[in-house]
This record gives sequence, C-alpha cells and structure tokens, in this order.
Amino acid sequence: MNQLFYFTMKTLLFMKKALKIFGYILLGLVVVILGLAAYIQLAPMPTYEVKAPDLKIIPDSARVAEGRRIALTMCVYCHRGPDGKLSGDIWNDDDVFGKLWSANLTQHPDAGIGRYTDAELAHTLRTGIKRDGHFAGPFMMFRNISDEDLASIIAFLRSDAPEVQPSERRQPPSELTFLGNMWLKLLVKPMPYPEKPVLAPSPADKIAYGRYLVTGKWECFSCHSAAFETNNLDEPEKSKGYLGGGNPLKDAHGNSAVSANITPDRETGIGAWTEAQFTEAVRFGKRPDGKSLSPLMPPMTVLTDEEVSAIWAYLQSVPAIKHNVKAP
Ligand code: HEC
Ligand code: HEC
Repeated sequence: MNQLFYFTMKTLLFMKKALKIFGYILLGLVVVILGLAAYIQLAPMPTYEVKAPDLKIIPDSARVAEGRRIALTMCVYCHRGPDGKLSGDIWNDDDVFGKLWSANLTQHPDAGIGRYTDAELAHTLRTGIKRDGHFAGPFMMFRNISDEDLASIIAFLRSDAPEVQPSERRQPPSELTFLGNMWLKLLVKPMPYPEKPVLAPSPADKIAYGRYLVTGKWECFSCHSAAFETNNLDEPEKSKGYLGGGNPLKDAHGNSAVSANITPDRETGIGAWTEAQFTEAVRFGKRPDGKSLSPLMPPMTVLTDEEVSAIWAYLQSVPAIKHNVKAP
C-alpha cells in the first residue's frame, strides 16, 4: 500500500515537472514565433555591402545604340513610367506580396540614378544591391549578360536619349504584405559580383551564340522555365523545366499569362513550327494560328535576323520537354 502511494506520488510529481517543462518549451516557441513575425514585419530591409568594381565606361555611339536596343526592350518592361521615360511605375500589385514600384532610371540626381557611378550601376545590375545597400530583389540580377552588353546599357543610361533625361517622378515606398516581407527580408539574397569577366561567344558559333542570347542578353529562359523561384541563374540549364514553359506571369495592369513551352517538342512545344513562324512570334507577338500573344511576352522587334536565327538554332538543340502549358 505504502509502496503504491509512493509510486503514485512520484508519477504525479514527475508529470507535474514534465508539464512544467512542456509549458516552458511551448512558451519559448510562442516567443520565438512572435519574435520572428515581429522581425519580419517591422525590421528594416537588410542592407548589404556595395563593393563596386573598378570600372569606367567609354560611352561611344555604338554602345549607346546597342544599349538603347537592350534597355528599351528589357528594362522598359518594368521601368517605363507614365511620362514615357524610364521613370518607374507600379510594378507588382497583389494580395500575396503587396505593392512594389520600380525605380526611376532617369538622370535626375535625387529622384533618379544621377548620382550612381558607372561602377555602381554595374554592381547593381549584377548583384541586385542598390547604391544605398538595399536589395532591389531577385528580378534585378543580370548574371549572364556580357560585360560589353552591360557597358552598352550603362552608356545608354548616361546618354542624351529622351527616355533617360531627368524626370522628377518619385515612387512611393513599397507596401509589402507579411509574405512579401518574409520573402524579401529572409528568403531571397543578392548574388556576388562575378569574379571573372563575362564574355559573349562569337556570332560565328551559332548555337553557342544562341545560348548566350537565350540565357543572357534577352533572358528568354527566365520567363520560359517552370518558375522564377526554381531558376538557376549560374547554370540556366539546371533550372526546373528549362524552357518548358508554365511560369505564371502577371503585371500590375491586370494582364496575366502562362509562359509557353519553347522546347522542340512537336506537340506541346514549338517543334512543328517553321523558323519564319518563330520569327513572327518573337518579333511581333503573332502566333502561327493568327492569335496575338499576351503583352507579357514582350515583342522583341529589335532582334536582328542574325540573332533570331541563332536563337532558333539553339532552341532546336535543347532537350524537348513534353509539357502542355495550355492544359487546364
Ligand atoms: C522584372 C522587373 C524589372 C526589370 C526587367 C528591370 N528592373 Fe530594375 N528594378 C526593378 C524594381 C522593382 C526596382 C526597385 C526595387 C526597390 O525599390 O528596391 C528596380 C531597381 C533598379 C535600380 C536601382 C535604382 C535605385 O534607385 O537605386 C536600377 C539601377 C535598375 N533597376 C536598373 C535596371 C536596368 C538597367 C534594367 C534593364 C537592363 C532593369 N533595371 C530591369 C524591377 C526591374
Ligand atoms: C518577360 C517574360 C518573357 C520573356 C523575357 C520572353 N518571353 Fe516568350 N513568352 C512569354 C509569355 C508569358 C508567353 C505566352 C504568351 C501567351 O500565351 O499569349 C510567351 C510566348 C512565347 C512564344 C509563343 C509560343 C507559343 O506556343 O505560343 C515564343 C515563340 C516565345 N515566347 C519566345 C521567346 C523568346 C525566343 C524569348 C527571348 C528572345 C522570349 N520568348 C522571352 C514571356 C516571355
């Protein structure tokens, strides 16, 4: 009897202790979760070191012209302002991430990027880290474009082109949701500045040149693989569903579309297309069936014949993926 009493007491005492410990653990967890939530919501955006390279760009007219061709195809997509300059605008507006505005890229010293040096611009475009140390986001890291093409973009931003003359437009600070904050503060990180020069292959090597255009200069792969989150910027071919489409895209103006499968699969890709049909689609947004492509496929009228032909040749060489993006 005594022994049973003793045993029961001991068990009860043990349970009390265990409950207490469990209580502390639970409390600790709640504190950690609340702390993390408060951090995500309230902490300022993290800043990163700006290690701009030693670089000065000679803005000759060939570079300005080439930079114009690239910037007015690739940067306008996010940076076009209502005044027709590259003065920035609302860029993302949804319930998931919240509101984000793109920056004013005109030469205005305060509202725009007038105070950036060439080197700081190169650093921002490669790493995503702005001059003030804040991270602009993973969509602002141009990893694979060649140093020469990057120099051309910078020469254009510095030129007397009307699109980059000072505009006073200032964008409001972003209004991120909890998820948006978590994403930008914790989940995505800038990339390091490349250690080696980034060179483009010669156009004479058609397939290698086509690969460069698809993965570097015109960024086809980043929209046309499975999702931005699973893209591999350093080794594009390792991106999930490389060029197989299915990436859901939308803009702040209510357009939405799913990117197309541009691998050579005959049924679900562009394997049954001719080069002429492909050229029509890329340059003018016209499909072989006569339908117009969504504005989320930026019409690339400025692509030269040599470029479209190299891109076509390269796309014939990538593995075909069976992925019907138009299926429900
Ligand atoms: C997918 C959308 C997108 C594309 C494409 C894009 N940008 Fe941006 N860029 C942004 C957003 C959004 C910001 C602002 C982020 C912020 O405020 O932190 C930004 C910020 C910048 C900044 C920093 C400006 C500052 O005030 O510090 C520079 C410089 C810049 N972009 C240049 C370019 C150039 C040049 C191109 C074309 C080669 C380009 N961007 C293409 C979305 C984009
Ligand atoms: C900013 C994202 C984006 C970029 C960059 C982009 N595309 Fe697209 N592309 C799309 C979207 C979205 C569609 C689907 C449009 C639709 O369904 O109306 C599409 C459709 C196409 C189509 C039509 C295919 C079909 O079956 O209808 C072709 C061809 C194509 N893109 C080729 C290219 C090439 C080549 C490049 C690079 C030179 C490129 N795209 C760059 C987003 C992009």
